[in-house]
Amino acid sequence: MAVTSLLPKIFLFASTTLLIISTPAHTDKCFNSIISFGDSIADTGNALHISSKSNPPPFFSLYPYGETFFNHPTGRCSDGRLIIDFIAEDLGHPFVEPFHSGGRNASLESVNFAVVGATALEDSFFIERNIMLPLANVSLLAQFSWFKQFLSKKGNNSSDYKRYLQTSLVLVGEIGGNDYNHAFFQGKNVAEVQSFVPKIVKTIGQTINELINLGAVTLMVPGNFPIGCSAAYLTYFVSKNEEGYDSTTGCIKWLNRFAQYHNELLQRELNRIRQLHPETTIIYADYYNAAMSLYRCPEKYGFVGGALKACCGGGGLYNVNFSVQCGYPQSAHCVEPSSYMNWDGVHFTDVASKWIAKFLLRGSYTTPRLGAICDRHSIHARIYDH
Ligand SMILES: *[C@@H]1O[C@H](CO)[C@@H](O)[C@H](O)[C@H]1NC(C)=O
Ligand SMILES: *[C@@H]1O[C@H](CO)[C@@H](O)[C@H](O)[C@H]1NC(C)=O
Ligand SMILES: *[C@@H]1O[C@H](CO)[C@@H](O)[C@H](O)[C@H]1NC(C)=O
Ligand SMILES: *[C@@H]1O[C@H](CO)[C@@H](O)[C@H](O)[C@H]1NC(C)=O
Ligand SMILES: *[C@@H]1O[C@H](CO)[C@@H](O)[C@H](O)[C@H]1NC(C)=O
Repeated sequence: MAVTSLLPKIFLFASTTLLIISTPAHTDKCFNSIISFGDSIADTGNALHISSKSNPPPFFSLYPYGETFFNHPTGRCSDGRLIIDFIAEDLGHPFVEPFHSGGRNASLESVNFAVVGATALEDSFFIERNIMLPLANVSLLAQFSWFKQFLSKKGNNSSDYKRYLQTSLVLVGEIGGNDYNHAFFQGKNVAEVQSFVPKIVKTIGQTINELINLGAVTLMVPGNFPIGCSAAYLTYFVSKNEEGYDSTTGCIKWLNRFAQYHNELLQRELNRIRQLHPETTIIYADYYNAAMSLYRCPEKYGFVGGALKACCGGGGLYNVNFSVQCGYPQSAHCVEPSSYMNWDGVHFTDVASKWIAKFLLRGSYTTPRLGAICDRHSIHARIYDH
């Protein structure tokens, strides 16, 4: 890489960073930057950029993606914003820009490495098991290597990195969901997919450890969602056996138990890392229960179109057809996305993401509480409090 040509910029950047860090009283931000790893739940445009020349264009690059908030597709798998967008906004930051965003990534303060379709594990793991990765096959390790490239522009040595990372909030995930999605949707049975969980959790743990070794001190690690409530899973695993469904939510029970199993192992791993690194704050973000509180009382949150049916998709009971994705010409599209939780079968709508982010920022779905950490920095409440 042409490191020498970047030196003037690095130098300029380093002096700016120092200035910001040495004058914390002049900023009401809880963190100076947000760094994000993950998949489509958090991708703010990496996959769109990476796949810009692909033919046919990926579904998330097509209208109506983005229609509710940005008025055009941004590469986000939503009609609008993602959970990470609401978190960034609430913490007083601009939206976290994708690392692959067209040339100005050296000057980014916050940076997003999440990619639609990304997996925790390497693609060799899936090849051995005959599982295809239909979208970009980018692993957590690949994202971490982009991160190291990015970091090399923040300074020459470990104390420079530490200074940058010390004041960052690092979001590790959600990641791992696709490792399971790809396997389940390609016919693997639950016993086999369940056997992946310890390896996926260990991989997430290794990345967290490496981030801590580089200097990260505040990390937030989300668990998996209740996948048994996802329109895509409800379609693929549709069954006449009523006992398989939760009678209050209509979600598939065994799939939700699967997600909880992943989350239990993940939390155990986080506890282990917390003990090794008591100086760090590792926040578990309980995406599962934050989403469940919406699925349990959808009307309370305005989801009168239903909690389980997708707003945009190829028709059928849950408006999901695996050969007609949202964005494709034959897909059907709801009139009022804000009355739906599910956008395209797999992802949340703008408004559902907003609620989940609110629960994380203001409620009890983060351990330790993200809100409390930021209150100590006297952060002023933003989007939700006025
Ligand atoms: C971002 O920076 C990396 C490292 O220099 C580079 O390889 C990549 O092409 C850049 N991406 C974009 C889209 O600017
Ligand atoms: C990942 O991408 C590479 C390069 O396009 C391809 O050769 C490989 O088969 C892909 N892996 C999987 C598991 O789909
Ligand atoms: C990195 O090292 C070079 C050469 O020693 C120096 O000119 C530059 O200012 C350093 N960069 C940073 C960010 O400290
Ligand atoms: C790291 O780089 C900074 C800025 O270039 C410099 O002030 C510091 O002395 C360096 N530290 C080490 C351990 O080399
Ligand atoms: C999915 O869409 C295709 C193409 O329109 C159609 O042929 C097929 O019957 C649909 N499948 C279901 C289950 O509705």
